[in-house]
Amino acid sequence: MRRRERERIARLHELAKLGELAGGLAHELKNPLSTIKLNLQLLQEDLARLPGAESSRSRAGILRKEVDRLNQTLDDFLSFAGRLELHPVPTELNTLVRDLIDFFHPQAQAAGVRLHTSLAAENPVCPVDANLFKQALLNLLLNAIQAMPAGGELIIRTHASRSRALVDVSDTGVGIGPELMPRLFEAYFTTRKGGTGLGLATTRRIIEEHRGHISVTSEPGKGTNFRLELPLVPVCRD
Ligand SMILES: Nc1ncnc2c1ncn2[C@@H]1O[C@H](COP(=O)(O)OP(=O)(O)O)[C@@H](O)[C@H]1O
Ligand SMILES: [Mg+2]
Repeated sequence: MRRRERERIARLHELAKLGELAGGLAHELKNPLSTIKLNLQLLQEDLARLPGAESSRSRAGILRKEVDRLNQTLDDFLSFAGRLELHPVPTELNTLVRDLIDFFHPQAQAAGVRLHTSLAAENPVCPVDANLFKQALLNLLLNAIQAMPAGGELIIRTHASRSRALVDVSDTGVGIGPELMPRLFEAYFTTRKGGTGLGLATTRRIIEEHRGHISVTSEPGKGTNFRLELPLVPVCRD
């Protein structure tokens, strides 16, 4: 077995173990959190009727915001490490990319980013869970626009080789220094203020669950290219 394939399987096993334990814990935490949130809401309403209780009410508001933040942290974690049930069906990659672009276009435009596509003439068909795969691609698109604070170009290309389809997402952003490359896909690795560091870890997990592979090349100051490789649906020839 190739090293890349061995590493992919080892990572999936590790995540399955982690996901079972930590996913269970995260769910256990979410129930009491929603009780806390509901009661804080009621408390705020009571305090609103009490004269002179403004500062107590605003404290309860702060607590509610923190509860929301904890909930978000748990949701981000669950989407990375939680149970992932793939329902792959043969999917035309070009169509999927076009759908996603339609959805993403306004956000790119607002960030001053021009979106281009270059789609394979043969429209490769891959076994894909469309929702999860779109989530994986969306993480790359979001990172790309965040890497271009002054605007730029974002290009999505699809190609097909003999047994695999390729999707390239490239940007003309700040690029990634070679010293950061080894840590890029680590869970919780981020250089962004307010970043979760779970985007690329989640994307890699989704792609590897599809028996695919993700790789990256980058030139600091010039831009970055993320490449996804996916197995094609075998074509029957007689
Ligand atoms: N297209 C890109 N251009 C430059 N840096 C990137 C790009 N995509 C990812 N990165 C780097 O990888 C880090 C991890 O990305 P990610 O896992 O999505 O987490 P987050 O977006 O929350 O920081 C980012 O903080 C950034 O430093
Ligand atoms: Mg991200």
